[in-house]
Amino acid sequence: MDAIRIEGLVKKFGWFFSRRKILAVNNLSLSVEENQIFGFLGPNGAGKTTTIKILLGLVIPDAGGASIFNADVNDKAVKGRIGFLPDNPSFYNHLSGREFIAFCGKLMHIDRMNRYRRADELLAKMGLAEAGDDKIEGYSRGMMQRLGIAQALINNPDLIILDEPVSGLDPLGRREVKQILIDLRSEGKTVFFSSHILADVQEMCDEVSIMNHGRLLQKGPMSTILGAKGTRVYATGISPDSLDKADSIARNIVKDGSRWGFDVADAKGKDAIKAFIQQQGGQVDEITTQRETLEEAFLRKIEEDEKSRKEDSK
Ligand SMILES: Nc1ncnc2c1ncn2[C@@H]1O[C@H](COP(=O)(O)OP(=O)(O)OP(=O)(O)O)[C@@H](O)[C@H]1O
Ligand SMILES: [Mg+2]
Repeated sequence: MDAIRIEGLVKKFGWFFSRRKILAVNNLSLSVEENQIFGFLGPNGAGKTTTIKILLGLVIPDAGGASIFNADVNDKAVKGRIGFLPDNPSFYNHLSGREFIAFCGKLMHIDRMNRYRRADELLAKMGLAEAGDDKIEGYSRGMMQRLGIAQALINNPDLIILDEPVSGLDPLGRREVKQILIDLRSEGKTVFFSSHILADVQEMCDEVSIMNHGRLLQKGPMSTILGAKGTRVYATGISPDSLDKADSIARNIVKDGSRWGFDVADAKGKDAIKAFIQQQGGQVDEITTQRETLEEAFLRKIEEDEKSRKEDSK
């Protein structure tokens, strides 16, 4: 089953009579399978938060619609299966972390005993057990972010939607949050989150989508998003003295134990380097395809889109 299905979604902002309307979401269609970690990517202003708010029924679209677990986003039963972390969470600063989480549990109609038990469990999970009785006003940015994630999990949701869950966290905190999201997936949950930290996204996401100016540019598993960057040919039996001669063929040469790796851009380069290896009395040991990082793929996609938008507007 799809956890999320979005079809032909359109959202414009601006005054009713104004001619200057911002097309925040422009005919977006996207589906997210259950039990995945899904990365929802796009530069600032791409329309991610707007789409997330539509998924939560907080913003009404101008056209199209979205469903969660095959039910309308405004369906009460389905709302109870969603956990949400907003992009700039705000808290009742005079409460302690523990009181705040328990209060969120109250809003979700969890009985008193269970909501305090659940609050303690979640605070421990988010590394906030010791600070649980301190007032939120004394929390650091990272502690607030963890509290926000704990709050999103209070109702033991099947779908967790997080708007930039790792922003403001130090590398240690990011690693912890990543592990929590991975654990949620192994419990059978679906995680849908936006982020600008693409190395983290690449590490843990099953699928990602890339948006720009409200439009979907690409969606799929990492293997379809990351383009091939070239080929590396590993060879044994090559004398270091002969490497100079490969300079004009390979764009990069790396040492790997007792063998050398030669990076080439295309099939022509591959043939040329194979010929060189043979000529030097060496042997081809392994040929690997090099892939872009998610950050490289993202920047390439956005640059291509910006270029074609410029050309279209000429
Ligand atoms: N309430 C609003 N009123 C007017 N314009 C809005 C409103 N909310 C969003 N926008 C505009 O819609 C566009 C998309 O914004 P959105 O917040 O969805 O982007 P985003 O992808 O979440 O960006 P970021 O990465 O910066 O969080 C932007 O141009 C933004 O200025
Ligand atoms: Mg946003």
